[in-house]
Amino acid sequence: MAKFSSLSLVPLFLSATRVLAGLQVDVDDAASVKKAAALVAEDLMSFYTGEIPGILPGPPPEGDYYPWTGGALWAAMLDYRSRTGDTQYDEKISEGLQWQRGPGDDFLPQNWSITTGNDDQAIWAMAALLAAETGFAEAGGDNPKWLTLAQNVFDEQSTEARRVVNGSCAGALRWQIFATSNGYNWVATSSNVAYANLGAGLSLQDRQNETLPKLVEDTFDWLETSKFIDGNFNVFDGAQASDCSKINKVQFSYISAFALESAAIMFNTTADEKWRKLVDGLTKRTIDVFFPDGVAKEVACESGMCNVDQTFFKAFLHRSLASTMKVAPHTAESILPVLKTSAAAAAKSCTGGDNKRMCGLTWSGRFDGLEGAGSQISVLGALLSLLPSEKSVDSAGSGGSETSSSSSSTTSPTTTADGSSESSTTPGNAGVHTGVSAVALLTSLLFTSLMLN
Ligand SMILES: *[C@@H]1O[C@H](CO)[C@@H](O)[C@H](O)[C@H]1NC(C)=O
Ligand SMILES: *[C@@H]1O[C@H](CO)[C@@H](O)[C@H](O)[C@H]1NC(C)=O
Ligand SMILES: *[C@@H]1O[C@H](CO)[C@@H](O)[C@H](O)[C@H]1NC(C)=O
Ligand SMILES: *[C@@H]1O[C@H](CO)[C@@H](O)[C@H](O)[C@H]1NC(C)=O
Repeated sequence: MAKFSSLSLVPLFLSATRVLAGLQVDVDDAASVKKAAALVAEDLMSFYTGEIPGILPGPPPEGDYYPWTGGALWAAMLDYRSRTGDTQYDEKISEGLQWQRGPGDDFLPQNWSITTGNDDQAIWAMAALLAAETGFAEAGGDNPKWLTLAQNVFDEQSTEARRVVNGSCAGALRWQIFATSNGYNWVATSSNVAYANLGAGLSLQDRQNETLPKLVEDTFDWLETSKFIDGNFNVFDGAQASDCSKINKVQFSYISAFALESAAIMFNTTADEKWRKLVDGLTKRTIDVFFPDGVAKEVACESGMCNVDQTFFKAFLHRSLASTMKVAPHTAESILPVLKTSAAAAAKSCTGGDNKRMCGLTWSGRFDGLEGAGSQISVLGALLSLLPSEKSVDSAGSGGSETSSSSSSTTSPTTTADGSSESSTTPGNAGVHTGVSAVALLTSLLFTSLMLN
């Protein structure tokens, strides 16, 4: 065919390519993943105004971004810098984390302390721990070290003051911290697994410390004995602090993922068969429940309407699975193929917004209109999960640049997941939708709407 004979074809051609544009990524090519991650990170940061460092101000009608999402943001951005070598956000990360550390150096700034849960506090602490793990420059001056901030939070959460003393929930970490808070009388699995995750991570920083693995083990013993983690490796949401036998059986992806990552670290440091069983069981169940057709889905809400908090969870899901592969390499065979299919689908959702590359929440091959920091951070988490963590990325301003080579593409020990569908017919999913009584469902709705406030 001859070249275009009519100028009128040109705009048509342009608009067709624009529709096809969006975020391009080849999940088998590390350079391509990094390039895509850079764009998604930039768009994520567009939600951060910095007027209130550490907080993502959320304009209506999307609703509020609760303070914990700031901790999630900085963890994602620390991951981003350590896996791509891009240090342009270093100052904001450092400032945001230190600003929200609060007067006790424990991430309980007075402005938010009334509504903060143990899980929120731990998520901030995990970001500080990640800073320590990845060699992120200390803030210097009077600022406490990253590791100190994380340790402070863990130590506080280890005390009886944060826990249920009597009854069938005795020993469990409560959801919220202060008796005046709505969620004080709720035992949230999220708080307990976030605590375990923090303790397990700290144990890698101080392998001589015998208290840390002991407290992580105690937490898992409690969760398993109380059937918050059941024999089929489902990880349930929580229960009223007055009666831990009445479990709300909704499942959220980040809760399972935190449990898995913690168990994987424990397996790494102990080589104990007991932990291996838990790792293998949780790996399989997490994939079965939260990756129908090989693509991540927040099954408890995504078919309907997720609240703003819930739109962030898939970021943690991918991140914890990537960490699990690192510390328990035998799991890569089942995890990596799923991370690839999920990240590929995630990127395909990024064709929205004015820039035609804002991401959506449901990864069904197109933008679903659900633009937000949660959608961005989840896609970023999916992409980053394919990249190895780079050691010693010098901080911006410290005169250095990326020190370790990043030429190798992401390795794939296996072929892609077959993606055969088990989605809504698996027992776990059935439980989520039908196994919950009307009363429990009401409670669950109440608590998910209060969750992480
Ligand atoms: C607490 O909130 C007030 C009022 O919005 C603000 O001026 C102050 O900077 C906040 N403090 C911190 C530590 O963020
Ligand atoms: C071990 O870690 C715990 C938790 O952070 C801490 O309270 C304790 O002081 C540490 N013990 C030693 C001997 O460092
Ligand atoms: C726990 O039970 C004991 C004995 O029944 C009671 O004295 C105490 O007040 C209870 N503590 C709490 C925190 O409920
Ligand atoms: C423990 O984790 C490290 C990476 O952090 C990994 O290189 C090593 O192989 C793991 N050890 C075991 C026994 O899986």
